[in-house]
Amino acid sequence: MLKNTKDSYGLVARLMHWLMAILIIGLMILGLIMTDLPKGELKNQLYFWHKSLGATVLILLIFRLFWRLSNPVPEPLSLDLRERLLARLMHLALYALIFIQALSGIILSQAHGYAVSVFGWFELPTLVNKSKDLAEAAEEVHEIVWIVLAIGIALHAIAALKHHFIDKDRTLLRMIKGQ
Ligand code: HEM
Ligand code: HEM
Repeated sequence: MLKNTKDSYGLVARLMHWLMAILIIGLMILGLIMTDLPKGELKNQLYFWHKSLGATVLILLIFRLFWRLSNPVPEPLSLDLRERLLARLMHLALYALIFIQALSGIILSQAHGYAVSVFGWFELPTLVNKSKDLAEAAEEVHEIVWIVLAIGIALHAIAALKHHFIDKDRTLLRMIKGQ
């Protein structure tokens, strides 16, 4: 089934979840490696891939949010009201942090005067003009938010593993197999 139901994740939601998870963790590793490299062709190549894949995350995120709004969201399996609320809040926070991280990357690039090309296929529209102050502010946001996002993801993954191994419910299997 492509779409979600009240108690199962459809194929589209599951593919988007795991694809974006791999991309985001990969972008963090790539971002840390590329900024540490000396100036040169390899550094430029990795920046190109980081920006293209980062822009892909933003495009996928917009599609994913549309998909989420046009689908039922499966009910959390936990019966504890606080835990259900916490899971929902964490999911919303993860969506917001991914959005801020990708947008700050685009703003920092454009404010430095570099257009953002997506794999050389097309360029993102210009959101901001060149500005040193804005570039520095966006860079700071980009350098802080990925850490908050990484902590959020770690807590989120620990919660998923707790459901699987301690509560022994189908929360994790539902995100892998759908049911
Ligand atoms: C970059 C990494 C990740 C991000 C950004 C992320 C984000 C999200 C979001 C936003 C949701 C809510 C889906 C929705 O209903 O709209 C979700 C659900 C879920 N995620 Fe992740 N996730 C990540 C990695 C992981 C990992 C590593 C695991 C497992 C160890 C995992 C397990 C789950 C499970 C089981 C659900 C379903 C929760 C439920 O049914 O209440 N996620 N994830
Ligand atoms: C969710 C998606 C993204 C993640 C997780 C991510 C993560 C990171 C990380 C961890 C760094 C290294 C930060 C540091 O040195 O402290 C970085 C740097 C950078 N990112 Fe991203 N990024 C994302 C999206 C983007 C996008 C969409 C763009 C631009 C189109 C972008 C452009 C850059 C640039 C230009 C740098 C280097 C900044 C500098 O030289 O100080 N990022 N990113």
